[in-house]
Amino acid sequence: MSGPAIVWERRDRVLLITLNRPRQLNALNRDTVRELNALLVPADKDPALGCVVITGNDKAFAAGADIKEMQDKSYQAMARDDHFAEWETFARLRTPRIAAVNGYALGGGCELMLMCDFAIAGRSAKFGLPEIKLGVMPGMGGTQRLPRLVGRALAMDLILTGRMMDAAEALAAGLVARLVDDDAVVETALKAAETIAGYSKPATLLARDAVNRADEVSLSEGALFERRVFHSLFATEDQREGMAAFVEKRKPTFTGS
Ligand code: CAA
Repeated sequence: MSGPAIVWERRDRVLLITLNRPRQLNALNRDTVRELNALLVPADKDPALGCVVITGNDKAFAAGADIKEMQDKSYQAMARDDHFAEWETFARLRTPRIAAVNGYALGGGCELMLMCDFAIAGRSAKFGLPEIKLGVMPGMGGTQRLPRLVGRALAMDLILTGRMMDAAEALAAGLVARLVDDDAVVETALKAAETIAGYSKPATLLARDAVNRADEVSLSEGALFERRVFHSLFATEDQREGMAAFVEKRKPTFTGS
């Protein structure tokens, strides 16, 4: 009997999720995505949830999709089941998500990281999309999200050679937002998550909607979208509170209304 593929704990307004298949280097199987979605789809609607942190263990954030689960599948089965489509549900969640990465973030593990809003990584983390070495290619969004983040040349290099990138290169390329000592990764991510969760939830949700819009539309359309959602925040009490607190030189208390 194998245990749950993820374990989680709620810390006030933050949800900490730990991938829990250490013997398989957290290889992502169908249970993993199903458990993540079962937890996060309802949690996404919880007004008291401000941010999610996803992590693995010291050796691996996740070393990819589960190769053993896929190896004997036919084309027909992969296509009929729309294998990996469930990850799109995860990718579309609105609550901010931070990946806290130690060790390997490879293949689907790297692609899971790319589905989070940003990543905080340890100095010995390693990244890559090595699917080409298995006779396949990325299938969890890597060919789309990686070039948007690090540019086409580096994305092509990583996807076509399958090489691993160290943490310093990943930081320089913009693949991760921050590098910290390995043993400070989860703590740093939780701190960032608490900060985000302390802000107005309508503001954080709309800010990430606006940033994500940039992947889909022209600059002028995106800027218009941004202005319109910016204007809409003036319908919130949190805007009144945030600006009043600044003027009154006190700390704001946001309620999400
Ligand atoms: N799927 C299934 N099992 C995996 C796995 C994966 N992606 N990665 C590691 N494991 C398993 C190994 O099979 C091994 O299990 P056994 O002890 O039963 O043999 C266990 O985890 C430990 O792994 P290693 O012995 O290989 O550990 P290592 O330290 O020698 O090497 C590694 C570490 C370099 C990360 C190596 O495990 C590796 O190359 N893993 C595969 C990486 C990969 O190819 N990822 C892409 C997967 S395909 C994909 O992700 C498709 C997609 O687009 C979503």
